[in-house]
Parts: sequence; C-alpha cells; structure tokens
Amino acid sequence: MPVLKKTILSGMRPTGKLHIGHLLGVLNNWINLQDEYNCYFEVADWHALTSEFASTKQMSANIKEMAVDWLAAGLDPEKSVMFVQSKVLEHAELHLLLSMITPLPWLERCPTYKEQINEIKDKDLSNYGFLGYPVLQAADILIYKASVVPIGQDQLPHLELTREICRRFNNLYGNVFPEPLHLFTTVPKLLGTDGRKMSKSYNNSIFISDTQEEAAKKIKGAFTDPKKMRKGDPGHPDGCPMFMLQNIYSSEAVPGLRKDCESGVLGCADCKKMLLENLSKAMEPIRERREKVLAKKDFAEEVLREGTKKAEITAKKNMAEVREAVFGRNYV
Ligand code: TRP
Repeated sequence: MPVLKKTILSGMRPTGKLHIGHLLGVLNNWINLQDEYNCYFEVADWHALTSEFASTKQMSANIKEMAVDWLAAGLDPEKSVMFVQSKVLEHAELHLLLSMITPLPWLERCPTYKEQINEIKDKDLSNYGFLGYPVLQAADILIYKASVVPIGQDQLPHLELTREICRRFNNLYGNVFPEPLHLFTTVPKLLGTDGRKMSKSYNNSIFISDTQEEAAKKIKGAFTDPKKMRKGDPGHPDGCPMFMLQNIYSSEAVPGLRKDCESGVLGCADCKKMLLENLSKAMEPIRERREKVLAKKDFAEEVLREGTKKAEITAKKNMAEVREAVFGRNYV
C-alpha cells in the first residue's frame, strides 16, 4: 500500500529580498522537506498587510522578489506548491469562521502580540486584523489539514494557538482537522556586516540575490573583532560577525582558522578572503538558478499562479467539509 505523505504548510511574509540567514535557517530546511512531505509554501501577503496596510504599493514587487529567491534557493515547483495567500479566498472564509470560536483573551495574551504592541511605536497596530494575526495563521494551516508546520522558535505561540483553535473547532463541530505539530527550523545565529543582528531594516545584510561583487564589497567593509586592530594582534573569534560566517561557510577549515585568529597569525583581511571564496562556492548554484529563473519571462509569477490553482483545489475541498461540519448538510 502506498504510504500517504503527510502535509506540511509554512509561509513567509513578503517583505522583499531575503538574506543568507533566511536561506540557512528556513529555505534550506524547506528544500530538505520537499521529498518526504506534501509541501505547501505560502506567500503570506495578508499577514504582511496586518501591519503594512498603509503601504501596499511595494507588495507586488516584494512578492515577486521573494518568489525568485525561493526558486533560486532550490524550492522546486514540481515538488512543492508555492502560492499567494490572498489569491486563495477560502483562507478568508475559514479565518472568519475561526474568529467566531476564538476567545478574545487568547489573542490579547499572545506574547508576540503583546511584545509588538509594546515595542513597535512607528506603526499603528491597534487594528482588528493585527489582533487576529494568529487566527489567520491558524486558517492557513488548518485549511490544508497540515499536520506538520516548520517554524522558527518565535512562531511557537502562534502554533500553540492554532492547536487550541483546532481542538475547539473539532469539539464543537466534529473531527475535521488534524492537530498540527511544529517542526523547529534552527536558525543559525548570524550577525550583519555592522555586528548587529542581520536584518534587512539595519542595512547590514548579505542578500541571497547579491552578486559576487556586491557580497565581496560588503564583506570587505564588514566589522570584525574590534580588539584586533592589525594582523599579529590576538583575535577573539567568538562574537566576530565574520567568524560566525566562517563557522558556516568554511566549516572544515574552522579549527585551524580559529587557532590562527587567536594567535594573530591570521589577519582579518585574509580571513575575509577565505570566507568570500567559500561563500562564493556555496552561492554559485543559487546564482546560476537565479539567472535561469530570471531568463524566463514571468517564470516566478507563473509558478505562483500554478501553485495557487493547486492550493485552491485542496482549500475548496476542505472548506466544503468545514461548511458541512459547521452548518450541516442541507443548510439553506
Ligand atoms: N507568521 C509567519 C512569520 O511571520 C508567517 C506565516 C503565515 C506562517 N502563515 C503561516 C508560518 C502558516 C507558518 C504557517 O514567520
């Protein structure tokens, strides 16, 4: 008997170009899951809208940019369904039904919500959609009856809420949804070229889409150990943003490099040179795939359109089951 593959759903908000942290942490993980699972990868544009509703102009370009990064990284449209959330309207219908059974205090006490309301002062987050962010995420997951959800640690509260909403739904209306499990993607600790956390908003990122020249320029100008002023000074590799990248990209050579950095034999310029060589090797297949993707006009859009069609088939089928569970078979 054929073994049925389990379903995975995960998503990202389209905030534009992805950096190598996304590649190492999330995308490589998704790529490894493609054979073993039935995968749905979602561009979560409605989720982006919960906080970016005032600036929608960039959204379309951001979606495309992200899809190109996904394909360049190696997500395969033959294996996985890549789609745009806002094009599968059933997500909105399920979100609405789930909103009826989600008690307000569950959302108000959600740690990600509380944190963002307290910390983000430059955007107005006092809207109903933002409070409902986890309900929308629950709808994304449950509508495909996904049983496994790859996420970073920061998303755990949302997955816990998804499970609570799922149990509540099943208790009220019958066993429709499997309770989804999370699968943590380990995000490597990466610092940007200025020594702060690598983040697009800090302007310190090495992007997946950077050319060899762009990456070289960034690495050359990057911050290293501030106590090591010149070659010969003893270095402190732990905490050096470039050494963190060495750990990943030059893993075989690292024990020797560490010793030489600490003793002073290895200067930062030579260390960076080696990093750049190894980074280039790792990025080469990705850069080649990007070129192929961009060479075919509208290829990324086409992948999303085809993926959306496939996602819609499953979403429609499962929504029919949901309606029947909630309203009964012969509802008006
Ligand atoms: N909230 C997720 C994030 O910011 C993105 C997301 C939207 C998601 N829907 C999802 C992740 C469903 C997993 C499953 O990272």
